[in-house]
Amino acid sequence: MKDIGFQLELLTEGKASFYAPRESESDVYIPSTKTVFYNPVMRLNRDISVLALRSFRQAGNRASLVADPLAGCGVRGVRFALEAPFIDRVEMNDLNPLAVELQRRNVALNSLSEIVGVNRSDANVFLSAHSGPGRRFDFVDLDPFGSPVRFLDSAIRSLRGGGLLALTATDMAALCGVHSAACRRKYFSTALRTEYCHELAVRIVLNTLVVAAAKYEFGVLPVFSHSSDHYIRLYVLLILNLRKADECLRELGYLVHCFSCFHRESHRGFSPSVPDVCPMCGGRVGLSGPIWLGRIFDQSFIKQMQRQLLILDGLDPRLPRLLELTILEHDAPITYYVIDRLTDRLNIPIPKTVEIFDALSELGYRVVPTHFHPKGLRTDASSKVLSEVVLGLSAKKSVGK
Ligand SMILES: C[S@@+](CC[C@H](N)C(=O)[O-])C[C@H]1O[C@@H](n2cnc3c(N)ncnc32)[C@H](O)[C@@H]1O
Ligand SMILES: [Zn+2]
Repeated sequence: MKDIGFQLELLTEGKASFYAPRESESDVYIPSTKTVFYNPVMRLNRDISVLALRSFRQAGNRASLVADPLAGCGVRGVRFALEAPFIDRVEMNDLNPLAVELQRRNVALNSLSEIVGVNRSDANVFLSAHSGPGRRFDFVDLDPFGSPVRFLDSAIRSLRGGGLLALTATDMAALCGVHSAACRRKYFSTALRTEYCHELAVRIVLNTLVVAAAKYEFGVLPVFSHSSDHYIRLYVLLILNLRKADECLRELGYLVHCFSCFHRESHRGFSPSVPDVCPMCGGRVGLSGPIWLGRIFDQSFIKQMQRQLLILDGLDPRLPRLLELTILEHDAPITYYVIDRLTDRLNIPIPKTVEIFDALSELGYRVVPTHFHPKGLRTDASSKVLSEVVLGLSAKKSVGK
């Protein structure tokens, strides 16, 4: 085989066999040091992408033309072609010539030259070339290093009305309130360092997407979101409809969070009046926003993903539980509580999570877990009620000792 300038190894993922840069077993994985990108940790991300694409089609949508504009070694695009066989064409693209060479080899290796195209261009140029009538994609999967924002406009313009946009964001320091200037710059939003910052991260990216889409008269329908490993991922239908775009803008707003009693409240609107101290305890509050305050999951889409999961073999073993959790939380109140944070603040031992769920249910409150955090719970009980429940259970536990 022609020398590509670095060592290759043959790997498999899903139904694809593919070449990727060889990993020495002792190497710590550092993506930015690679000549061409392949990150095995992102396998779950790609598995879900395949499930989402199949569910999109199964829900009766046309899913013929698919784009992988930041394709790296091309494993994602190759998997789309093999694992979503209804596709007519996948266009892969990357700016890195070595990535493009590897994509070519991987397309040939899987005998997909008839249906998978390989392009070398800036992703915005590539997507813009598909922004005209008849050339638009049904599904675009944006999987950048860091933030997807610089590709949003061209991705939206390259999608047909009713198309599906998937995006990854790995810039969690900006989205979780560690680098607030970066969050303002990229997303024109304020993040908060709270226990539910990963959910806020999803909502910040959605805010940016809603604003970007509205100017092209697209409204959005988020069908699936998840936070896994070191990234977040969104799946959003773009609906070409003025009224839907306006409706989505009305779902934007702010979240007030109390750092003392964990109270939180949301306020819709561009410039709503928000409290500057906690209305419950008078404590210091933080403000996050603008963020998307609407739903971030669609139950019927996730159920379809569950059905697709039963059909496909060899996907990530975390998937059944992830989908089950997102079904549970799809219509639950926004933001979640993390029990350890609460007990740390109250300076009490941690009661069993199941006891907290039971106690809240007995009091008539809704309570569900969240995939965002293993110790997280969403409830319509106030932070005051939750604290009282946790204090009561903790006191019982101490007496029982
Ligand atoms: C995170 S990797 C993609 C990984 C791939 N989607 C996968 O699942 O394995 C991001 C890729 O974007 C490419 N890239 C970065 N900036 C780009 C640009 N402006 N236009 C096109 N490709 C770009 C990089 O060369 C890299 O291969
Ligand atoms: Zn408070």
